[in-house]
Amino acid sequence: MTDAPWSYDLPWPIDLPPFDPFDLAIQADPFRHYAWLRTNAPIVRAGRPDAPIYFVSRYDDVLAGLKDAATFVSTPPGGAIIPGLLLMLDPPLHGPMRQTIGRAFGPRAVNTIEDRVRTLVATHWDRFLVSGGGDAAAGFATPLTMGVIATVLGITIDDAAQMRDWTNSAVDFIATRIRGVVNPHASVDSYAAMRAFMADAMDRAAGDRAAGRGRDTVIDALAVLRDERALTPDEANGFACLLFMAGHETTTLLSVNCIDQLARDPAALWWLRAGGSPAAFVDEMLRHRPSVHRVTRYAARATMIAGHAVPAGAPVRFLIASANRDMTRFADPERFDPDRRGSPHAGFGFGMHICMGSWLARLELRLMLEHIAATTGSIVASGERIPVTGGAFATSGLTRLDLSVSPRSV
Ligand code: HEM
Repeated sequence: MTDAPWSYDLPWPIDLPPFDPFDLAIQADPFRHYAWLRTNAPIVRAGRPDAPIYFVSRYDDVLAGLKDAATFVSTPPGGAIIPGLLLMLDPPLHGPMRQTIGRAFGPRAVNTIEDRVRTLVATHWDRFLVSGGGDAAAGFATPLTMGVIATVLGITIDDAAQMRDWTNSAVDFIATRIRGVVNPHASVDSYAAMRAFMADAMDRAAGDRAAGRGRDTVIDALAVLRDERALTPDEANGFACLLFMAGHETTTLLSVNCIDQLARDPAALWWLRAGGSPAAFVDEMLRHRPSVHRVTRYAARATMIAGHAVPAGAPVRFLIASANRDMTRFADPERFDPDRRGSPHAGFGFGMHICMGSWLARLELRLMLEHIAATTGSIVASGERIPVTGGAFATSGLTRLDLSVSPRSV
């Protein structure tokens, strides 16, 4: 039984440096590394020799690992750091909390906002289209996603913008706590401010409900769960913050990836116009270029992955973006093909932590593609195309995408 090899000990091809998760160039375009790993080293060690991180790249190993919540746990050694942060909870706490929270945030809640999301999509895309384009991330996807999350939570756009700024440094703060890595951008103040804002929003929602002015928003529903003591105040608050952290960057990046696909492959826009399913397009993007590349677990005990030993307590990163391109599961996996059928992709994860916001993300992205196909004649790359690097939550995609767009002639 051998330990997994170190990435830099492997015989990499001459044009491919060893896989290093902290290398910004590799983060910007990791797919060739993933392909090589799947073939040659389905589990590798990377990171510091005194604090190795294990990376798992094949579909079957990723699926098996994420479904085995007894062996691969989500709570970091030392304990969950934030109550209500579902992502870091394990059984027996995770299931009941996810079920309780499902009453506040599920497909039913999301379906009620479809018309408002459609209006937001039209407002933001039409403005982008009339101005002839610009940066699709800042000029369209970010304001759209912020508007959608603000609608779901029941907060104003200005508050959502403030939440986004707090979130960015709070995510760094949480990553710092988990990894014990000093990060100059990390701010405990942002996280405290975010929690205070959410506590206040829930108090106001409870007051409005008592006065007969209750609303159908997630913050209202969480306030009810808190006041019924189904969730503690800390849990309700932690979950409200998590929705923002888990929902805004992931969806913004995937929106931009979809638009980038339309710009790079004009046939994709024709495919949509000819009646191709926007929902299938979104699913193929979640497979081909998902906005989350990996999810982290910790080995609860010494175990084996792909024939190699993994010690107890070790962090294991399951590379869902690599699993999605595994040729044992997907024919011609490097090709974007919205007509493909077959294995489920791992873009929203697998197992009990599978994305709770998938309905919302799918709704927003589907409506976005429908509207773009109906209104837009051409989408052409016109300048910068900057990938995300260094994201604390393992996100991937474009933070900037300059485009020229023109309306569809009728
Ligand atoms: C395209 C957009 C999105 C992608 C690619 C994505 C991806 C993921 C992935 C891969 C996981 C699993 C994490 C793990 O196994 O450790 C996850 C979990 C989660 N996501 Fe999303 N997500 C997206 C949008 C959203 C949105 C819009 C929300 C809410 C507003 C959201 C809320 C959550 C929550 C609460 C969890 C934790 C579930 C649990 O631990 O049981 N996500 N997401």
